[in-house]
Amino acid sequence: MTRHEEIQNAYRSLGGEATFYDGMITCSTLPGRAVCRLVWDMGAEENARYLERALSGIPEGFAGKLLEVPVGTGVLTMPVYRTLPRAEITCLDYSADMMERAQRRAAGAGLSNVRFQQGDVGALPFADNSFDLVLSLNGFHAFPDKEAAYRETFRVLKPGGVFCGCFYVRGETRRTDRWVQRFYVPKGYFTPPFETADSLKKRLGTLYAECKVQTVNSMASFVCRKGSAES
Ligand SMILES: C[S@@+](CC[C@H](N)C(=O)[O-])C[C@H]1O[C@@H](n2cnc3c(N)ncnc32)[C@H](O)[C@@H]1O
Repeated sequence: MTRHEEIQNAYRSLGGEATFYDGMITCSTLPGRAVCRLVWDMGAEENARYLERALSGIPEGFAGKLLEVPVGTGVLTMPVYRTLPRAEITCLDYSADMMERAQRRAAGAGLSNVRFQQGDVGALPFADNSFDLVLSLNGFHAFPDKEAAYRETFRVLKPGGVFCGCFYVRGETRRTDRWVQRFYVPKGYFTPPFETADSLKKRLGTLYAECKVQTVNSMASFVCRKGSAES
């Protein structure tokens, strides 16, 4: 089985109607809060803080073209998209199962400006410079080919566009690193190699004209701007 297939299988069980994943990622349900504390050493406030920072790259009333990769079940972003009726939003994920749930959420919220496409972040089916904003929440620690993912998200972003999101970085919280190594990697939810906060700052700083990276425990949030043609 390829790593791509392993990842697809791992996330299959988290799609469907199961709410465990959603509770965990939002640190809201009882089991979700337990995972937040046990694995990430975070409460709801810290969890909200890193997500808010990641989402702060989306300007209020944004009305341009936005790509979200990976969308997962859409639990974090469909509420945001309700506030962006003039944006043209494309959501992509490798797992059809995770994305089906996001599609149902979007339909339930009557979002007609959000479309979904199954695909690989390492080979995005879009032309160069297509999007004003690329959003990636909790994706880069899962992607099997991270070099391709950095390259592709940069390629499809317009000059002057914003790349923002968050993901796990190693070396910040020992208990999280242990859980990742012993559970999340063997299960196929996460795929090494992982960035450290420093390596991420360096990488994004090299690629993008401006970049702000901040961590809450082992979660790094970033908001970067691609250089314009003139800069
Ligand atoms: C931890 S989930 C994050 C989903 C969502 N952004 C969130 O924060 O809830 C990771 C997602 O990455 C997707 N994924 C893994 N490898 C991928 C790839 N190569 N291309 C696109 N999506 C991928 C998985 O299917 C899964 O839905």
